[in-house]
Amino acid sequence: MDGLDALKRKYLEGVAAAGDEAALEDLRLAALGKKGEISLKMRELGQMTPEQRQTTGAALNLLKDEIDAALRGKKAALSDAALDERLRAEWLDVTLPGRPRRMGTIHPVSQVTEEVTAIFADMGFAVAEGPQIESDWFNFDALNIPPEHPARQEHDTFFMARGAGDNRPPHVLRTHTSPVQIRAMAAQGAPIRVIAPGRVYRMDMDQTHTPMFHQVEGLAIDRDISMANLKWVLEEFCRTYFEVPEVELRFRASHFPFTEPSAEVDIRCSWEGGQLKIGQGDSWMEILGSGMVHPKVLSAAGVDPAEWQGFAFGMGIDRIAMLKYGIPDLRAFFESDLRWLRHYGFSALDMPSVFGGLSR
Ligand code: DAH
Repeated sequence: MDGLDALKRKYLEGVAAAGDEAALEDLRLAALGKKGEISLKMRELGQMTPEQRQTTGAALNLLKDEIDAALRGKKAALSDAALDERLRAEWLDVTLPGRPRRMGTIHPVSQVTEEVTAIFADMGFAVAEGPQIESDWFNFDALNIPPEHPARQEHDTFFMARGAGDNRPPHVLRTHTSPVQIRAMAAQGAPIRVIAPGRVYRMDMDQTHTPMFHQVEGLAIDRDISMANLKWVLEEFCRTYFEVPEVELRFRASHFPFTEPSAEVDIRCSWEGGQLKIGQGDSWMEILGSGMVHPKVLSAAGVDPAEWQGFAFGMGIDRIAMLKYGIPDLRAFFESDLRWLRHYGFSALDMPSVFGGLSR
């Protein structure tokens, strides 16, 4: 039995001192392998008396289990240590700032369209679309602008060519986003709440006019929508869009064929030192046209004016982009000058949202 104690000490100390799995495997073979010391001792049991065999056999089994458990325990400890070591060696500091890579910029018009869409989406407006080549019925007649109406002249319309002998009125490049009001109501009926951002075209060119520019149309129709709702929606929009705590809007009586009553909306601002500041000051800047949708417009879109009413507005996207981001000349928007785009463009990775920040 003394021999067993010595064996036990030898192997348990060996296991404790083993530095890797290979050393453990050597120890296992030396003790428990076919020709291992414990296994050889097991074989000697055959020559013993039954009493000796019983005590020595039990002791050997116990020793075998102990060595086996020690080997397993050590093996687990070694693999834990190896994993810890790997984790330490392969550690990566994810808090290090990234290296920004130029991959182009978002055009101010795209940025502002996203901002406007995010703000109105937050107020329950969906996005509606219509074609840029529009029939004159959608662009004019349905909006209560009959053929002889002076507004047709004011729109400086681009007309599409007609085939020889085709006497129907020519299609036009839409002069405003208002025809999308008709298309959206005709498709969805009432109640409806949509905005329609997009390209529009007019024959005009100077520092603040280009033949193609962008508008966003707004339309909210329900049973009891009033000018008060229009005022709140526009104030909420301006506060969020211009990222100022307070705005003041002035509703000036105006005339549009498709709204009655109609109002042009000015925003309070200041021009101190040539710098435009929105929200305070003693100047006013016109930012949009609006009003209560004319009953004839509702009828043209198949919505019963006896049952439904609501407001509409139309705003220049390029114009509010110039105001917010201090861009002086509209023509540069569409010249594709890379230096301009790098200067006024936005990061492609910042998606504007009302909660995450519009323009950061
Ligand atoms: N369509 C008008 C324009 O291009 C803008 C406008 C004014 C749209 C009043 C509206 C509105 O929806 O109610 O000048």
